[in-house]
Amino acid sequence: MSSPEGFDRVLVVNFGGQYTHLIARRIRELNVYSEIVNYSEFSRELVERVRPKAVVLSGGPSSVYAEGAPRIGEWVLELGVPVLGICYGHQLLASMVGGRVERGVGEYGRTEVEVVTEDRLFEGWGSREVVWMSHSDYVAELPEGRAVVLARSAGTGYVAAFRLTDRPIYGVQFHPEVTHTPKGRKLLENFVVGVAGARRSWTPENVVEVIVEEIRRTVPPGEKVLCAVSGGVDSTTAALLLKRAVGDRLVAVFVNHGLMREGEPEAVLETLRKLGLNPVYIDASREFLEALKGVRDCEEKRRIVGELFARIFKEVAERDRGIRWLAQGTTYPDVIESGFAPGADRIKSHHNVAGLPRWLGLKVVEPLRYLYKDEVRRIAVALGLPEEWAYRHPFPGPGLAVRIVGEVTEEKLRIVRRASRVVEEELTRAGLYRSVWQAFAVVGEDRWVGVKGDRRAVGYVVTVRIVESEDGMTADWSRVPYEVLERIASRITGEIPEVTMVTYAITSKPPSTIEPC
Ligand code: XMP
Repeated sequence: MSSPEGFDRVLVVNFGGQYTHLIARRIRELNVYSEIVNYSEFSRELVERVRPKAVVLSGGPSSVYAEGAPRIGEWVLELGVPVLGICYGHQLLASMVGGRVERGVGEYGRTEVEVVTEDRLFEGWGSREVVWMSHSDYVAELPEGRAVVLARSAGTGYVAAFRLTDRPIYGVQFHPEVTHTPKGRKLLENFVVGVAGARRSWTPENVVEVIVEEIRRTVPPGEKVLCAVSGGVDSTTAALLLKRAVGDRLVAVFVNHGLMREGEPEAVLETLRKLGLNPVYIDASREFLEALKGVRDCEEKRRIVGELFARIFKEVAERDRGIRWLAQGTTYPDVIESGFAPGADRIKSHHNVAGLPRWLGLKVVEPLRYLYKDEVRRIAVALGLPEEWAYRHPFPGPGLAVRIVGEVTEEKLRIVRRASRVVEEELTRAGLYRSVWQAFAVVGEDRWVGVKGDRRAVGYVVTVRIVESEDGMTADWSRVPYEVLERIASRITGEIPEVTMVTYAITSKPPSTIEPC
C-alpha cells in the first residue's frame, strides 16, 4: 500500500539520528502528515512523486567530511521547497552551500542561544532561549551574502541557526523535536505551517476513510483476508479497519496460545464479539505448552510460538479457499526500524515485519504501517473500541513465554499470571496505569529463602518491571511511589504462596531491554 493520499506532507530525511522518529511525530502532532525516508532513497523522482510541502534533514552520528558520510544531492537546494536541516542536517546544508564545518568543543544538553536576526522561523521566541544540543562538529563559517546567521550559542558563539538569503532553506544546530527545547514545537510549527504553508488537515481520526479506501484498492473483490486478532490494540484496530473495508470477507481469528494474562481469553472474546468481529476461536493452549516443554532459550520459544501460529493460520486458509491475504498490525516504527538499519544487530526477533513464513502463500496487507502507537489508539477509539482497551499496555506476541525465564511450566505460569494481575490492579488503583508504557511481573529460576508462618520456605523470586517509554525503543524505569511498590510486594507474597521475594527492576533501556528475555 502507498502512504495516505490527499494530505499535505513533509518528508523527513533520515541520516541515522536518534531523534528522527520524534521529528516525524512532532510534525504529525501539528496535524501535518510526515514520513521518514532514508537518505539513500531520497531522490528527485521521489520528491516529484510525493510533492512534499517541506523537507527536514535529520541529525546523525557522522561528520560531514568523514569518508562515506551520508550526503544528498545539491538539487535539494533548487527544489523550491522549504528545507530545514537539524544538527547533522544543519552542518550538511552549510557544507553544501560552501560553508565550513569544524570539530569544536562540543555542546551537550541544555544550552542557551541568542536569536540575532528576526525571522519567521523564530516567531514567538524571545531573544534568548534554552535549547537542547548534542554535537561536537559545528558550523564555523557561512558564505558571505549567501546565508545569514539567525541565532548563535550564547556560550561558544557557534552558529545555532542560519538561512539562505534568497530562499527558505534553514539549518538549526539544536534539536527542536525534543521536549528539552521548550520552544521547539513552536519552531517546527513556524517552519511547517508558517514558512512551508502546509495545511493542518491530517489527524488519525480523519485518516480512517483514507486507509479504508486503500485497503479496498489493495484487496480485489472476492478475495478474503485472514486477520489474527490477539485483543491487543494493533491487531484489533487492523481488524476493525478491514471489517469496514471488506466486510464479511474478513476472517478474524483469535488463537489462545495458553500464554495470556489472567482472564484474558474470555475478555478478549467478549470484546471482539461486541465489536462485531465475530472471531473464529481456536484454543491451542495445549499444543503450545506441549511444544514449549523443556525449552529454555527465549529466541527458541519465539521461534516455536511463531511457527505454531503460522501452522494454525495455514490450516484456516486451507479450509477456506477464498483467503488470499494475511493482515498484520505492523506499525510505523517496525517498518522504519526493519528497513533502515541493514546489518544492524538483531536484539530480539520480535518485529512483525519479516513476519510469517513465505510458505503460508498469502499476500500481506498492513493497514497500520504508517501509524504510530498513539495514533493507532486514537483510531481504535474512533472505531468504537472502549478506551480502557485502546490504552491497554503492549503485550508481546509470545505472551508470558518471554516473561518466564527458563522453562515454561504450569507453576511458573500461574505465578506470573497472578503477580502480573496484582501489578496491573495496584497501578490502576494508584491512577498510574495510563502514565506508564508497560507494567508486569517476571518469574525465573532464582530462589530465595523465606519464612512463611514461622517456617523456613524456599520460594520463587518475582521481579516487577514498570517502564515509561514513547515507543518501546528506549525506556526508563518508572519512579513509582514506594507505597505502591510496597502494596504490590506484600500482595504478591501474600496471594502466591510459592513466592518469597519481590524485586523491582531499576535498569533502563538501554542497557537493558524491557522484557527479561
Ligand atoms: P524489548 O524487550 O526488546 O521490548 O525491550 C521492546 C518492546 O517490544 C515488545 N516485545 C515483543 N513484542 N513479540 C512481540 O510482539 C515479542 O517477542 C516481543 N519481545 C518484546 C516488548 O513488550 C516491548 O514493548
